[in-house]
Amino acid sequence: MDRVIIFDTTLRDGEQSPGFSMNTLEKLEMARQLARLQVDVIEAGFPISSDEDFEATREVAKQVGTLDNAPTICGLSRVGLADIDRCWEAVKYARKPRIHTFVATSDIHLKYKLRKSRAEVLRAAVEAVRHAHGYCADVEFSPEDASRSDFDYMCDVLSAVIEAGATTINIPDTVGYAIPREWGERIARIRDTVRGVEKAVLSVHCHNDLGQAVANSLTAIMSGARQVECTINGIGERAGNASLEEIVMALRTRKDFFAADTRVRTEEIFKTSRLLSHITGIHVQPNKAIVGENAFAHEAGIHQDGVLKEKLTYEIMRPEDIGRPSNKLVLGKHSGRHALAARLKDLGLDLAGPDLDRAFKAFKDLADRKKEVYDEDLMAIVADEATQGAAGYEIEYLHVISGTGVVPSATVKLKKDGQVFQDSGVGDGPVDAVLNAIDAVTGMKGRLQDYSLRSATSGKDAIGEVAMKVDFDGTVVWGKGASTDVIEASARAYLSALNRVVHPSGQRLKEIGP
Ligand code: KIV
Ligand code: ZN
Repeated sequence: MDRVIIFDTTLRDGEQSPGFSMNTLEKLEMARQLARLQVDVIEAGFPISSDEDFEATREVAKQVGTLDNAPTICGLSRVGLADIDRCWEAVKYARKPRIHTFVATSDIHLKYKLRKSRAEVLRAAVEAVRHAHGYCADVEFSPEDASRSDFDYMCDVLSAVIEAGATTINIPDTVGYAIPREWGERIARIRDTVRGVEKAVLSVHCHNDLGQAVANSLTAIMSGARQVECTINGIGERAGNASLEEIVMALRTRKDFFAADTRVRTEEIFKTSRLLSHITGIHVQPNKAIVGENAFAHEAGIHQDGVLKEKLTYEIMRPEDIGRPSNKLVLGKHSGRHALAARLKDLGLDLAGPDLDRAFKAFKDLADRKKEVYDEDLMAIVADEATQGAAGYEIEYLHVISGTGVVPSATVKLKKDGQVFQDSGVGDGPVDAVLNAIDAVTGMKGRLQDYSLRSATSGKDAIGEVAMKVDFDGTVVWGKGASTDVIEASARAYLSALNRVVHPSGQRLKEIGP
């Protein structure tokens, strides 16, 4: 059985897409869970892109890259030598650091983006790999836009970087243009053509613009690729990257066909998927393969009948294979701090000290309001506390009047740095009124660009989770909040967005040139 290396780029390519940005603490929490999932490589960030990305990559290297059996911690870097220096400064703390450097090789990118000749790009790639190799033995090189690059030229670049010290060559379908059979053939031809390819690991990185990212990754494996780059829930630029859980479960379920497998502990998949949704406030579609709400739900009578008689009739995987919990009642009003900590640990949330204190208080408040507390509720309150816990405004009091034939109005008291401020507002509806009242207190004017509300569990008393995108005078930020009261959840989401502007540590510089 061959082994396929799982290179997770949730914290870099995934995080780079709108709505998925994570601060250092959030990245650390995800990285710890990725280590439990047992991915081989975590690409933690693009250190030159911003101070915060640098810090997050460095902290992942220090805190996750030094654990027993830690995965390799990788940072992304363009081919500029200063980029590589900065990348090394961030990843060097890990037991197994990797520098991943890339430059485009397609004529379209050379002509319009880089304005460089093929020879100049080849030289820059070789110099970059040599420079990176001076720092660390593990160097990955990617010819960006490989699927639209001239084949012979790209192979010349790949041969040259292997000679310069690249240990992994990663072939990206940057724009999601490839079709599985063609892509498989391209990977096989690279294996046959590139000089020294047997000394390097051959990898692919597929985007999902035509919905082919997972299929392309799997055909590449059939053609000899032994590393795949992917993200949890398939998040990433535009239509996303290849989804980790789909690739891993395809390989595991069809070992007979692929004769290849991964080291991933599949029982951690569901937890990891949910943790990402809770951190980012963005949920997967119900019919998403492997981790969607309906992925294991048999609705049709004939299917239910078959499954009741023998699961094998319609089930090719078992929910427990991916660690999917039954939505069971976990804790009640009388449960103590220890029980909460233990249950959270089972859910992948290892809280202690003040974080656990805050979660316990939120749990007690919730248990007073809601009879039955489920795993999903716990995840929602912890994610909510983590966002609200940041410095900035906190809700002290909220009063809303709304109804048919009434002008909705709201009064809020917000606390900041020990002081309490109060104001009120009216609006088209209760949410509008509350947000206007918050604007009146803070003197900031937010324009709502996106708003979504979902319930964490079923039942009339379910927690409502709100995610919103707000434009504060040209700075666009995401916020999220959770409460059994959806108006309060909206206010919390708005404040978590606003606090990112007031305390820009939650913000990052996203745009970076070629
Ligand atoms: O899609 C892409 O080309 C990338 C590279 C940096 C590997 O993300
Ligand atoms: Zn990419």
